[in-house]
Amino acid sequence: MGDTVLMAPSILSADFTRLAEAVELIEAGGADLIHVDVMDGHFVPNLTIGPPVVKALRRVATRPLDVHLMIDDADGTVEWYLEAGADWVSVHVEACSHLHRVVQAIHDAGAKAGVALNPATPVESVRDVLGDLDYVLLMSVNPGFGGQAFIQHTLEKTRRLSALCAEEGLHPLIEVDGGINTLTGALVAEAGARVLVAGNAIFCEPDPVEAMRAIRQAAEMAL
Ligand code: DX5
Ligand code: ZN
Repeated sequence: MGDTVLMAPSILSADFTRLAEAVELIEAGGADLIHVDVMDGHFVPNLTIGPPVVKALRRVATRPLDVHLMIDDADGTVEWYLEAGADWVSVHVEACSHLHRVVQAIHDAGAKAGVALNPATPVESVRDVLGDLDYVLLMSVNPGFGGQAFIQHTLEKTRRLSALCAEEGLHPLIEVDGGINTLTGALVAEAGARVLVAGNAIFCEPDPVEAMRAIRQAAEMAL
């Protein structure tokens, strides 16, 4: 009891012609982080935001930018996002040749480092880098698009990651991303998630602030 979750609204589902307004609205409503989905059209079949937009968001946001890099070869380009002002940076384990080095580069820039796992990637794949991470991002949909349905086996996977962390005596935050709403948010929180990303369930609702508050409340009640 008394535990909290961090809410990270994904602006992928906001109106891209009005990003500053979306950030201001959701921060005033208590967002803890602003989740920024970077897609390269190679690692995932969609193109979204690049370093110039991250830089622009950094100027308007007061909360940390949680930049989720869904890109190939982040080894070569992570610096661009760090220079643009990313505060939290996650790279996909499936897309990095030298994961440990990328994590070091993120920390060297003073940012928090995370590793993201696709739904089919086992949690054991991060065991040897767990001690270097601030957070692990579990994808609960196949990355590329907002508005997809939550993949149920993420619940068991979240529990397995919690157990792995406990076994190793390490406590990176567990972030879950994809198909999060009041129902799934409560389930993943109960399983160990402490950072919840939500796009459609916040920005596609008539009152995004109230929608975010409801997800947070449902999740914290489940703790
Ligand atoms: C998917 C992105 C997610 C997405 C979540 O590739 O990584 O962050 O925006 O959107 P919802 O909450 O709509 O599934
Ligand atoms: Zn994301």
